Amino acid sequence: MAMVWLLLLLGVSGALGYFSSDEVLSLPGLSTRLNFRQWSGYLQAAPGIHLHYWFVTSQRDPVQDPLILWLNGGPGCSSLDGFLAENGPLHVKDDGSTLYINEYSWNKVANVLYLESPAGVGFSYADDQVYATNDDEVADNNYLALQDFFRKFPSFMKNDFYVIGESYGGIYTPTLSLRIANGAAPINLKGFAVGNGLSSNYFNDQSLVYFGYYHGLFGDTLWANLNTYCCNGGTCNFFNNTDYFCQESIKEAFFIIYDSGLNVYSLYMDCAGGIPTSYKRFLTDMKNLFQFYQFQAVKSTEKAINMAPPCINDTAQWTWLNRADVRRALHIPEWVQAWELCSAVVSESYHRTYSTMYDFYLKLLGKGLRVLVYNGDTDMACNFLGDHWFVQSLNQQKTVNYQPWIHNNQIAGFYEKYGDLTFLTVKGAGHMVPQWAPARALKMVTSFLSNSPY
Ligand SMILES: *[C@@H]1O[C@H](CO)[C@@H](O)[C@H](O)[C@H]1NC(C)=O
Ligand SMILES: *[C@@H]1O[C@H](CO)[C@@H](O)[C@H](O)[C@H]1NC(C)=O
Repeated sequence: MAMVWLLLLLGVSGALGYFSSDEVLSLPGLSTRLNFRQWSGYLQAAPGIHLHYWFVTSQRDPVQDPLILWLNGGPGCSSLDGFLAENGPLHVKDDGSTLYINEYSWNKVANVLYLESPAGVGFSYADDQVYATNDDEVADNNYLALQDFFRKFPSFMKNDFYVIGESYGGIYTPTLSLRIANGAAPINLKGFAVGNGLSSNYFNDQSLVYFGYYHGLFGDTLWANLNTYCCNGGTCNFFNNTDYFCQESIKEAFFIIYDSGLNVYSLYMDCAGGIPTSYKRFLTDMKNLFQFYQFQAVKSTEKAINMAPPCINDTAQWTWLNRADVRRALHIPEWVQAWELCSAVVSESYHRTYSTMYDFYLKLLGKGLRVLVYNGDTDMACNFLGDHWFVQSLNQQKTVNYQPWIHNNQIAGFYEKYGDLTFLTVKGAGHMVPQWAPARALKMVTSFLSNSPY
């Protein structure tokens, strides 16, 4: 039996045409035999920049199925959260030591490359340990790392290729896609998707105030103040209003949304750990949002041991990834930093170059790429309304009117199409759609990749 399995492995290896020392042959906490192959190691970006990747082949047909590059956001958060809690094939049980199969893994229909980017995130590092970076540098390094990936796995160059990013991946994804589309590397880029992404600071911030009020979070007094002080002749400016009383009202509104104990990533889910006892998180998170208002960051003097975003519990993934035997299995050198869901250093030293992805989308649509903007509609970090307004602002010709899409004979959400551009919501799901609506997320990505109806 062991021999048959070995031959089968060699056969698959031969068919794919490469063999790499990065291959992961066993993982602590996993007892099941897998019907896909996986590699973990480092990709070379700019000199001195080493980005950790974890690559899994499709469970269906690695040769024919497309290749997805998956990017989590932050900036500063690790794509291994995508792997171990969202759309990856192996998830970590609450005990922090056992892995189980995610039956809605995206590698049911695609080869998936998880990249920890930029350096300083997760197990990725820079030789000089300088982690200040910006949107353009990240796109350049992701593009270089991707080319290194294809050097290691040349047979995947002919697969259809898609970039899919979440949250601040709303910036990483179009910027990298345009590098690829304009670049010389023969990569088969067919499109990109963005899940609960930051697409435009203006639309994101402006819409959030309406989202909060119409989801019952503010009450009449605050809403009346917002309208009195922030609006003029029926036009409201919640984004960069200079009126003092408007700014005070907006601070009140954002305090409720971000720091009162609501789960900003999923309005109707509990906040892990309950109501915060101190408000130190406000502005580590908010610092880069609503830049105009210059909220004063209350820097925590406490040393964060586990840099998870507020209300999110990543203890299981954190525990598993920081085991010495897991690090060895994933080929992480001993001297590389411990894994954190989000890196405070990267997040705090990050320079945001772009306030909107408008130009990038127009250029990429002009190249005939397929684009999906999807949003779990209970997320407040990057709310659906802001992304819907962003998509509408691109002013493309509508080809399918806003209507429900169906999964398991239930309304799964809504979508509309503008030729190659689709906007889609996932009803009742929060920021991490593949984690909190896994079956619908798999159906969605399958439709997107095969360009079939939702
Ligand atoms: C507010 O933002 C808009 C849209 O980005 C911009 O045109 C305007 O100049 C900004 N106003 C101020 C006061 O910064
Ligand atoms: C976080 O998850 C772990 C299980 O992985 C659990 O033991 C712990 O109680 C949880 N913490 C909170 C604050 O929910």
